[in-house]
Amino acid sequence: MADAQSYRVRFEPVGVEMEVAEGETVLEAAFRQGIAVMHGCKEGQCSSCKSRLLEGDVELLKYSTFALPDYERETDHILLCRTHAYSDLTIELLNYDEDLLRRSIPVKEYEARLLGIEALTHDIRRLEIELAAPLRFWAGQYVDITLPETGITRSFSMANPPRGGRSLEFILKKYPDGAFSSRLDGGLAPGDRLIVKGPYGTCFRREGHPGPLVLVGGGSGMSPLLSILRDHVESGEKRAVRFFYGARTRRDLFYLDRFAEMETELEDFRFIPALSHAGPEEDWTGESGFIHDVVKRMLGAEGLDGEIDAYSCGPPPMIDAVLPVLQMAGVEPERIYFDKFTQAVR
Ligand SMILES: Cc1cc2nc3c(=O)[nH]c(=O)nc-3n(C[C@H](O)[C@H](O)[C@H](O)COP(=O)(O)OP(=O)(O)OC[C@H]3O[C@@H](n4cnc5c(N)ncnc54)[C@H](O)[C@@H]3O)c2cc1C
Ligand code: FES
Repeated sequence: MADAQSYRVRFEPVGVEMEVAEGETVLEAAFRQGIAVMHGCKEGQCSSCKSRLLEGDVELLKYSTFALPDYERETDHILLCRTHAYSDLTIELLNYDEDLLRRSIPVKEYEARLLGIEALTHDIRRLEIELAAPLRFWAGQYVDITLPETGITRSFSMANPPRGGRSLEFILKKYPDGAFSSRLDGGLAPGDRLIVKGPYGTCFRREGHPGPLVLVGGGSGMSPLLSILRDHVESGEKRAVRFFYGARTRRDLFYLDRFAEMETELEDFRFIPALSHAGPEEDWTGESGFIHDVVKRMLGAEGLDGEIDAYSCGPPPMIDAVLPVLQMAGVEPERIYFDKFTQAVR
């Protein structure tokens, strides 16, 4: 034991060691010390941080049994984002990749102010904020934004590529009774103070892979995928790119002009929007159905050569449906990166 109030944690099989203080979760301790381990929601909802306790005593905060079913808890599985240590620990990371450990960026808190909000559809907004200091992040990552007067904190993925600057863009979906998002039309105004903490997330663009890039998203899942796409374009890498985007009806689509322009500019890029609830009056000639069915139908026929890197972001049921489809299409599980936009528990 390091001292009365903190314990040593050793991660296997990577052999990385760190300290965890009493009262903080193992995941919070990792963020504090700039050690990148797999995570998603940070709230016991998504299972991305699931690991196995090899040695030591722990207590778990409340979590969803969808993320950690009882039979897994009984076989010493834990969620790092819910785990408090009561002794030194040895933990086996079930999912880790060298890129993640190598590209870790320490999490910090930033003062910020709102620059503006723009309507992209009836319920999608583009938000721009300015930080007091530049934030380093990887394309596809997210931050936690807190509204200081209310203390409400929500996770939002950057839509802009990382350029080491102070301004960040987001694409947000508005929920009528959403504690945060219902304030997008009226409650929040340019100049308002915000607190930003990050960067978080492991669904970031992997560089230097020659194979095709497949992006699959729905709703505000556009945000991190757009960041990844813009970053890819700026990197100058030459890869085939397919962007499958699911929406309910035509009025939920946006940035179509932007993608049409990219299709003419980029060598091998296709944006494939699909509508799940298009009525006959919409005169929709594009793809129809849920996005996982469209990926199932089309991915094989796209004639993509090489090992695919796939990124998927959006509502959890969409991701749960997309992951097996990607695997059935031959994408290696370790080359599928995703972020489930789970609902906040606080
Ligand atoms: C890693 C991560 C990244 C995220 N990135 C983004 C992003 O880039 N853009 C974005 O818009 N959101 C993103 N989210 C979701 C976001 O953090 C909030 O959950 C969302 O904005 C709703 O918050 P709220 O306070 O408005 O609603 P809350 O007050 O939390 O919920 C109120 C009601 O709104 C509805 N609702 C809220 N969330 C959802 C949901 N996910 N699905 C279905 N119904 C819901 C439900 O009816 C709920 O009862 C992300 C979440 C995670 C975990
Ligand atoms: S369950 Fe731990 S990060 Fe989502």
